[in-house]
Amino acid sequence: MKREIPIDQLQIGMFVDSVGGSWFSNPFWRSRLKIKTSEQITAFVESGIESLVIDTDLGIDVADDSATPDVQPVAPPTPAPRASQARFASPKAPRTFGKRERAAETIDTSKRLVKTLFDQVQSGAAVDLSLADTVAEDICNAVVQDSVTLINMLRLKNKDEYTYLHSVAVCTLMIKLARQQRLAQDHVVRLGVAGLLHDIGKIGVPLDILNKPDELTESEFAIVKEHAVKGAALLRELPGVSDCAIEVCLHHHERMDGKGYPEGLLGPKISLPARMGAICDVYDALTSERSYKEAWSPQRAVGEMQNWDGCFDPDLLFTFFQAIRVFPLASVVKLDTGQLAVVMPAKTDNSPPLVRTFYDTLRDTIEQPEDLVLGLRANHAHIVANEDPRTWRAEDPASLIEYVMQPVGTINRTVLQHMWNGPVVVPPIIASEEDETSPQAFTWKAA
Ligand SMILES: [Fe+2]
Repeated sequence: MKREIPIDQLQIGMFVDSVGGSWFSNPFWRSRLKIKTSEQITAFVESGIESLVIDTDLGIDVADDSATPDVQPVAPPTPAPRASQARFASPKAPRTFGKRERAAETIDTSKRLVKTLFDQVQSGAAVDLSLADTVAEDICNAVVQDSVTLINMLRLKNKDEYTYLHSVAVCTLMIKLARQQRLAQDHVVRLGVAGLLHDIGKIGVPLDILNKPDELTESEFAIVKEHAVKGAALLRELPGVSDCAIEVCLHHHERMDGKGYPEGLLGPKISLPARMGAICDVYDALTSERSYKEAWSPQRAVGEMQNWDGCFDPDLLFTFFQAIRVFPLASVVKLDTGQLAVVMPAKTDNSPPLVRTFYDTLRDTIEQPEDLVLGLRANHAHIVANEDPRTWRAEDPASLIEYVMQPVGTINRTVLQHMWNGPVVVPPIIASEEDETSPQAFTWKAA
């Protein structure tokens, strides 16, 4: 029997049939799920959902306090448990299944499914594409709950599992980027599957070339480059593969300046899914250890990517930085408070962005610099835009940024005011009817 209950009656052991509100207010990918942990309850509570519908044939009922959930009770998260969680807390409760363990389980399951899928393709056996959908949907769920831990753990790969984990990582990053753009849920999953399959053509590239510690010869690089065309051809042969997956597989090595491969397409000709694939693919490759390079930190990787003129769609790249909450060191950003700030060194790879504010665009005044850790409960500021220092009237914007990044106690506001003369007033640009910089229209066709 289905019944609607207020959110504060949600308990471990209940089966959630549906939730109210939009998909983006739902903290889980699937609205139908059995509640197994207090963290799931917390996620529902924090999402702002006020009520949901439970199925009492598949889980316990509201009044069914004597019923025994089919999972072990767990300790509620700190600080204060809600009443609905507290009833399951006890001094003997086992250790909470932590973020890292949950991410490790998601990664291990996904890796095994991707390996099975790739083995099927390589052996010519019947290919079960539902495996790719299963992985993408599970990753969607995991991303909504805790993407930071998942993305950082996916950076750790040994050479034997690189191909599979790189596929899972690109799938994860595509989903994160798609959600940042608030794309519809079926597009998000389709882009996740596309990320999973983007390098499937590499199953035909010899491992000694893929794992070669030295620079590739011209002929070896030519073999590697074939993976885009061969992968797309392979996907076209499989019934049920979406156009989106074929597109990402074929064009994820194209560059906005037309210097990519296989077709050397110029920016306007490159579709949005392919642009997304290019960014996610390179970010994961840079932040992973390979036989020929060490792993770069996330902040170093985004800094380099921002400096590679002509490679990526700059607006989409900034959206990617917002999605993964990593921004290039010493770049200048605008906050939703109207303040300009310089991005400071991240404390750790898992730390939220640290910025130093110095100018209030709303009041047109230089402020005493102040450090803000973005994302803390006490601080709801968000980075909303890149700021281009070339639009300032400062004589030397680079020196000004360097001065702002000094220890706060040594910064003199009067000196800062002298270095700053405000932004250049630029007349607004009137967009032409045909905007040549917009990506090639991509039709989201189902498989
Ligand atoms: Fe590739």
